[in-house]
Amino acid sequence: MDPHMHRKYEHISLAEKFYAEAKDNGFDQVQPLSQNLPELALADIQLDSRLAGRKMTRPFFLNAVTGGSPQAQKINESFARVAAKTGLAMAVGSQSITFKFEESLPSFTRVRELNPDGLLLANLGAHHPLVNAQKAVDQIQADILELHVNAAQELTMPEGDRDFFWQDNIATAVNSLLVPVIVKEVGFGMSPRSLLKLANLGVKYVDLAGKGGTSFVQIENFRRPKKELAFLDNLALTTAQSLILAQPYREKLSLTASGGIRTAQDIVKALILGADNVGISGHFLHVLLKQGEVGLEEEIHRLTEEIKLIMLLLGCQTIAELQQVPYVLTGQLKDYQAFNN
Ligand code: FNR
Repeated sequence: MDPHMHRKYEHISLAEKFYAEAKDNGFDQVQPLSQNLPELALADIQLDSRLAGRKMTRPFFLNAVTGGSPQAQKINESFARVAAKTGLAMAVGSQSITFKFEESLPSFTRVRELNPDGLLLANLGAHHPLVNAQKAVDQIQADILELHVNAAQELTMPEGDRDFFWQDNIATAVNSLLVPVIVKEVGFGMSPRSLLKLANLGVKYVDLAGKGGTSFVQIENFRRPKKELAFLDNLALTTAQSLILAQPYREKLSLTASGGIRTAQDIVKALILGADNVGISGHFLHVLLKQGEVGLEEEIHRLTEEIKLIMLLLGCQTIAELQQVPYVLTGQLKDYQAFNN
């Protein structure tokens, strides 16, 4: 098998292997304050939300996972069928592989065929020029493009990039494409220094993709013979840390929270900390691999219903109200909050 294809296979198997390890996304240090007099009916709770200006019926979506190999195609087809059935927005994994192997294209185009009316996100690394970004969008008639920035992942890969000049590509994509662009990390978390840079480039949508779930430093490090670069993950921010540090940018940027999101509580806490929506990759991949399409569909419905239960106890009818709920931070997160003052 070609090394590029083999790597796709390893990403899936290693993400699933490390899913079993306990990880800290930081949200246990966020305590929202309940409303004991909700003055609300459960049936009246609304989950309408937005992703890069587009409407969603739920505040969470299936974030980038895969594409390219035959195994990846099977997974993408399953995701696409579930997304079509549930109305969940879905991102594909990096489409970079289609520029190298034409035969990898159906693993992405099938997603649109199976979900003709769904909200779909294309995905590509930020080192790609505009012409490739346009192709990635066109391949799946995407509604939104995710451009990933993944310096830590590349440095951990023996065959990875060593030059990182991304700003011009990002600014050109944002200014030239007809679809909105989300700049995302891949599990390392975005720092406020990076958010300032992105805001100055004209970026409006950022996915913080923090530490606490799938870690590409961990995955790529495991693929190294000596496994000596795990320490690079020490510079990563958990999703909760990244969200706290992003508070000053809530006016300028619409934030997606992702990285280690597994439960309705995680989703609600991310929204309370100012995210407009939440992305889930590793958890949905795990549920699909273990419980199949029916299990994944049930999980999406379960999360939806549980979010409503928590919103009722917080006295919130809408996601906008949820974003105003008072909360207490404990432990380390207090230090991150102090940085903003
Ligand atoms: C990913 N992720 C990812 N992101 C991206 O922008 N392009 C990609 O090709 C991939 N590939 C990929 C493969 C697999 C198997 C997984 C599990 C994830 C990263 C993903 O979108 C997300 O940012 C991180 O995984 C963190 O979220 P979770 O997995 O902790 O929910």
